[in-house]
Amino acid sequence: MTRWTGATNGTTRGATTGTTTGTATGPAGRAAPLVAERLTLAYDDRVVVHDLTLEVPAGSFTVVIGPNGCGKSTLLRALARTLRPRDGHVLLHGRPIAEQRPKEVARRLALLPQSPVTPEAITVADLVARGRYPHQRVLRPWSTADAAAVGAAMAATEVADLAERPVAELSGGQRQRVWLAMALAQETDLLLLDEPTTYLDIAHAVEVMELLARLHEEGRTLVAVLHDLNQAARYATHLVALRDGRVVAQGPPAEVVTEALVEDVFGLPCRVVPDPETGTPLVVPRRPGPRPAAV
Ligand SMILES: Nc1ncnc2c1ncn2[C@@H]1O[C@H](COP(=O)(O)OP(=O)(O)O)[C@@H](O)[C@H]1O
Ligand SMILES: [Mg+2]
Repeated sequence: MTRWTGATNGTTRGATTGTTTGTATGPAGRAAPLVAERLTLAYDDRVVVHDLTLEVPAGSFTVVIGPNGCGKSTLLRALARTLRPRDGHVLLHGRPIAEQRPKEVARRLALLPQSPVTPEAITVADLVARGRYPHQRVLRPWSTADAAAVGAAMAATEVADLAERPVAELSGGQRQRVWLAMALAQETDLLLLDEPTTYLDIAHAVEVMELLARLHEEGRTLVAVLHDLNQAARYATHLVALRDGRVVAQGPPAEVVTEALVEDVFGLPCRVVPDPETGTPLVVPRRPGPRPAAV
């Protein structure tokens, strides 16, 4: 994929260099940009997330893992203000997110939902352009900075060739990259991604993860839900394991991804060995029953 260069819109990003790969804290002295305080999240009467407190370290690549239905997407929605907490609150740059204007929030934080609903008959270029909405003002409808941001986002996700195609006609993987382009076009310092590699073949999945790693290196703070533990361990600087709507472990992947944790959280007996490429934990599921005799 093309290296993400962003677009020049007068904002400075990446002013902080040294991201602290492998540690749970952001660069010294930087306050957590996104904090959940004692969140309780529910659908009607069903409580899904219980009294959860979480800090997203500044400049981190935070990855949330956990079994299906444990509340990962629900948590991400609350962090992005698309779900109102039953109790507790979310602080964006120290202020309650619920009290901030939607456009103000959208200039700081973008969310790629797990299953975004594609507006009917929209083209790729038009959908990606919607990412610029929070940057538009009454007296400044569309600018060269908007066009540059859209172009850069489409190049980074390799969807420029699809610009005039209706989104509805694309494959699942292409559509996923278009939605990612829209989130990138929003040019926010905080990017929340719910299973961004779903539907992608292994090569495209790796490309998207490498793109996210570059965005992180350039200074953005990322929060992603990933179902692939090995990807999570490879790319996260801060890993959060959820079970039944509660945080059961968090910290650097090397500390969080253990055989005991995987068994406890996912109910999966496994071995954890060093990833031969990166040295990060690699989860190898065990097979049930007696092991075949060595030959
Ligand atoms: N819109 C909704 N209405 C009612 N229940 C929901 C809704 N979305 C999710 N849930 C339920 O909340 C629980 C957590 O879901 P979710 O956060 O999507 O889990 P995860 O992303 O970890 O797989 C699940 O039991 C799911 O069925
Ligand atoms: Mg989910």
